[in-house]
Amino acid sequence: MSLKDLFFKQAEKVIKAVPGVSKKIEKEYDSMMDGLESSVKPYKGKFPAFTRIPEMGRARAEILRDMQAMRDHEEETWKDGFVSGAVYHGDTEHIEFLNQVYAINSQANPLHADVWPSATKFEAEIVAMTTHMLGGDGASTSLSERDVHGTVTSGGTESIMLAMKTYRDWARATKGITQPEMIVPITAHAAFDKASQYFNIKTVHIPVDENFHADVSAAKKAINKNTIVIVGSAPSFPHGAIDPIEELSELARQHGIGFHTDACLGGFVLPWAERLGYPVPKFDFRLAGVTSMSADTHKYGYAAKGTSVVLYRGLDLLHYQYYTASDWPGGLYFSPTFAGSRPGALSAACWAALTSIGEQGYLDATKRILETAAKVKEGIRQIPELRVLGDPLFVVAFASDSIDVYKVLDFMSHKKWSLNGLHKPTCVHLCVTLRHTQPGVAERFVADLREAVEHVKAHPEEKGTMAPVYGMASTIPMRGLVSDMLKKYLDLIFKA
Ligand SMILES: Cc1ncc(COP(=O)(O)O)c(C=O)c1O
Repeated sequence: MSLKDLFFKQAEKVIKAVPGVSKKIEKEYDSMMDGLESSVKPYKGKFPAFTRIPEMGRARAEILRDMQAMRDHEEETWKDGFVSGAVYHGDTEHIEFLNQVYAINSQANPLHADVWPSATKFEAEIVAMTTHMLGGDGASTSLSERDVHGTVTSGGTESIMLAMKTYRDWARATKGITQPEMIVPITAHAAFDKASQYFNIKTVHIPVDENFHADVSAAKKAINKNTIVIVGSAPSFPHGAIDPIEELSELARQHGIGFHTDACLGGFVLPWAERLGYPVPKFDFRLAGVTSMSADTHKYGYAAKGTSVVLYRGLDLLHYQYYTASDWPGGLYFSPTFAGSRPGALSAACWAALTSIGEQGYLDATKRILETAAKVKEGIRQIPELRVLGDPLFVVAFASDSIDVYKVLDFMSHKKWSLNGLHKPTCVHLCVTLRHTQPGVAERFVADLREAVEHVKAHPEEKGTMAPVYGMASTIPMRGLVSDMLKKYLDLIFKA
């Protein structure tokens, strides 16, 4: 912690301790949350709401009607390609097909492999297909021949957290490391920090260069006897930058520690981009130092929400992920991931997505996405007040040196766009999906962005609605206060 951070931490403590100040801060939060409530709870008063189970069950038709109305309202935003990331495929026929698959398998639970061997088959094959795609030779289904193994999880965060827990337990068992540390670029997903908090692993952050690539020499300097793993993203969520995985993983290999490629976002894009001839640096199991990877099927794998894959080099490593209980009165118990019972229907839908789309489908989808992203990048570069950060393939972040880019984000929201506001540095990104490859969407994005910039320039007096919140959150030095604010927001989400 720097002296400045230490100062602000102390200042925060002092401020909170002053009588009356805490109350004032609370009041500020409450009024801020009141302001946000209508946007977070748009259905209040419009649909029946429940704070206890209704005495008599409601008619199924009524429930379906209400849900369809909510879906129709929400689809308006994402269906036409106004949302960054979030829905990666979204074509009606694809969704209906996945829904049919879900309906057939809705009772399946992979925890009971004896009752639902279909779920087991789907999961094993999802892992094998993903392994093959990521250079781990999953084509061979024989356990003894294959070097890369893994499991299906509920999403990117679970894949990452499982991998970090696995390295912690592996390092404790094989090296006696009791105070584990992981080396993580500042741009890596927040799930790594979550793992650090949950599993008591110290995060050693390393900086990124001007193109948002992790600093290899900083990683080298950060290695010590407690280091268990180095992390790299392919690409990162904020700026879509692919870290120097080859150098970082080689560094890890030389030091006998793990290396995790977080390909949650890019795992189902980069292999196809490479085959299409795009310049994709090596990032997967073809690199000897890469010992684990996360790749999200529920993003560019185009599965329904709720699945991802975590892979390891070697069964030995994977075994540190598993949980087994041999003394429990409930019988012999074992589960591969955090959950016990799991939604087999989501694994079925994932398997159905992979096998119905096929390699050719993924190549076509990737081509469309990358061509659209190129149009978006070019369009942004034509706007003098904006600049694209780094040289991304499909997650395009932009910043401005002359205007408040959060006000641009605000204006875009009024134009129906749902983009991501980021900080450190202050910027906004669009994660390009198949939704944006529809005719006219990229052109509309660039035209709206140009209008937004003109508007912000012409109206410097306007504060915007979310711009002050983003601005405050990115500049306020007392991170504890920002954290309190986010907890209030979560409270609001769960307020019935
Ligand atoms: C690079 C990266 N890693 C991890 C995650 C976490 O994935 P999830 O939201 O599925 O938990 C994301 C999500 O966007 C991501 O972009």
